[in-house]
Amino acid sequence: MTQPKKLFVKTYGCQMNVYDSERMSEALAGEGYVETDSPDDADMILLNTCHIREKAAEKVYSELGRYKGLKAEKPDLKIGVAGCVAQAEGAEIMRRQPMVDMVVGPQSYHRLPALLKQTGEGAKALDTDFPEEDKFEHLKARPKARRAPAAFLTVQEGCDKFCAFCVVPYTRGAEVSRPVERILREARDLVERGVREITLLGQNVNAYHGVGPDGADWSLARLIRALDGVDGLERIRFTTSHPNDMDDDLIAAHGEVAKLMPYLHLPVQAGSDKILKRMNRQHTAESYLKVIERLRAARPDLHLSGDFIVGFPEETEEDFQATMDLVRAVEYGSAFSFKYSPRPGTPAAERAQVPEDEKTDRLQRLQALLTEQQRALQDAMVGREVGVLFEKAGRLPGQMVGKSEYLHAVHVAGIEGQVVPGDLRRVRITESGPNSLTGELA
Ligand code: 5AD
Ligand code: SF4
Repeated sequence: MTQPKKLFVKTYGCQMNVYDSERMSEALAGEGYVETDSPDDADMILLNTCHIREKAAEKVYSELGRYKGLKAEKPDLKIGVAGCVAQAEGAEIMRRQPMVDMVVGPQSYHRLPALLKQTGEGAKALDTDFPEEDKFEHLKARPKARRAPAAFLTVQEGCDKFCAFCVVPYTRGAEVSRPVERILREARDLVERGVREITLLGQNVNAYHGVGPDGADWSLARLIRALDGVDGLERIRFTTSHPNDMDDDLIAAHGEVAKLMPYLHLPVQAGSDKILKRMNRQHTAESYLKVIERLRAARPDLHLSGDFIVGFPEETEEDFQATMDLVRAVEYGSAFSFKYSPRPGTPAAERAQVPEDEKTDRLQRLQALLTEQQRALQDAMVGREVGVLFEKAGRLPGQMVGKSEYLHAVHVAGIEGQVVPGDLRRVRITESGPNSLTGELA
């Protein structure tokens, strides 16, 4: 029997990349590869990269630099670069790092086994096409192995919004939604394998409009209502959304679908209408706040999360204060905030830039406010009872860790054996720590 070959996958960036990496590694399992945690004993290294900010993109080159020695020692080692840097800079990667054997863009993953065969003895393979076919249908079926209780499922990819700072419409291409039946099939398969919570993924997930079994276009709300009927599935989440695609039915679903969790990631990016306009966001601060108000009317305990960019070109202190005001008005349960990073090929990269120290200063002030809000909402959980989906053993003996409806990590001591991963239990929260909650079974 031949020894299995070893595959080391390193994933950067968003949850969609996490999902794609899983699917790629399953496809490569069909080629005889098993995953390893260390690049040192790998026969193939695959970097699944992110291009969203300059820092993320630069990581690829420094990581590749580290593999130079390995490749010299082991010329048969295959090195592949996948993801959004591959899409955006494929040819440049090949030129800057001649040890790379394969470059594959996010829409061509199903061609990975074929690409692999083209490499060897100095031959290289590059595929950054946007083919018509659904790559997920062509990636080899997942083996029936057990899965962790919470899983991702990509339902939509790409973006047609063209925010002035963002590379996604270029790297991931136009919006495409997967058909409803394929998603339902994949969801049932995940549940059979132990999954209890599914997060539907898409760069613009609430713009989902996949073809339904009746031949009509289904909205995300309709898809969620159908998933609500999948036996054994306990929780549904979705990320990430645009405020303009939050339609009436999706808002209503937050009050009506019991499996839909009361946590929503709804990026606004900035609070100044002038900046929102220059960002080409197509909404105002007020229209965003209106959407939040309606969501909270449907689901009063909803926790909100958001993305923010500070130091977008021409952002003044006054504009920045408008972002702070918006944050104060919403009270976020969690948030991600970034300094604006000019991306090649995007309109905003050409405009007058805010000095770096200004960006740093604004980011610090914004993050201080967001951390305070996050902490306040988390502390408010103490004394309350929440549902926890247990995922794994904790670091302390007998301890188990899971997630609440609001996506807080919850630790419960002394319950190993009583509770197994995949169990959903009521927990009374007794303590709030820096990054997690502690409680006891109710
Ligand atoms: N600079 C900084 N942050 C960015 N994001 C997207 N593009 C940029 C950029 N050029 C942020 C946005 C988006 C999140 C995924 O990354 O906040 O919602
Ligand atoms: Fe990028 Fe999101 Fe704007 Fe699309 S909606 S361009 S993915 S920030």
